[in-house]
Amino acid sequence: MSSEGLEVEVEPRECWALSFRRQGREVARAQIHRHSGDVFEVVDLYVVPECRGRGLAKQVLSYCLDFIRARGGRMAVAHTSPENAPAFRLFSRQGFLPCLSELHLELALDHHRPHP
Ligand SMILES: CC(C)(COP(=O)(O)OP(=O)(O)OC[C@H]1O[C@@H](n2cnc3c(N)ncnc32)[C@H](O)[C@@H]1OP(=O)(O)O)[C@@H](O)C(=O)NCCC(=O)NCCS
Repeated sequence: MSSEGLEVEVEPRECWALSFRRQGREVARAQIHRHSGDVFEVVDLYVVPECRGRGLAKQVLSYCLDFIRARGGRMAVAHTSPENAPAFRLFSRQGFLPCLSELHLELALDHHRPHP
């Protein structure tokens, strides 16, 4: 494929959307994305508000990690912030370590003009 002089390589990515249910009702969900052969990301892990604080996310995360291992995963990554105390604690307790190879960048578009 190409786009105005750019060669575009489109690489399919594997992605799974997991829904966790009790008696047919969704109580939690998560996505898993395969980034490269053996690196996977746990994305948007979510527990419905009325089921929080009872270890459900821990159970979901364990399931996700088993799911990843079963597909040959050797590294799991996740993005969250210490400001999100429940999520940060969830991942930390599972052994995830902060890695400062990336920083969150923001750009307010209202008044911004890029340098010429
Ligand atoms: C983050 C979230 C998934 C946690 O779900 P949960 O089912 O309440 O979490 P658990 O009960 O399994 O608790 C996981 C850990 O977080 C801790 N925790 C839970 N709620 C907490 C709170 N309000 N403040 C601090 N720690 C908290 C628990 O004590 C537990 O740690 P522990 O093993 O040391 O006891 C849930 O709050 C949520 O869906 N938030 C909105 C979506 C989100 O932010 N997702 C993360 C983005 S990847």
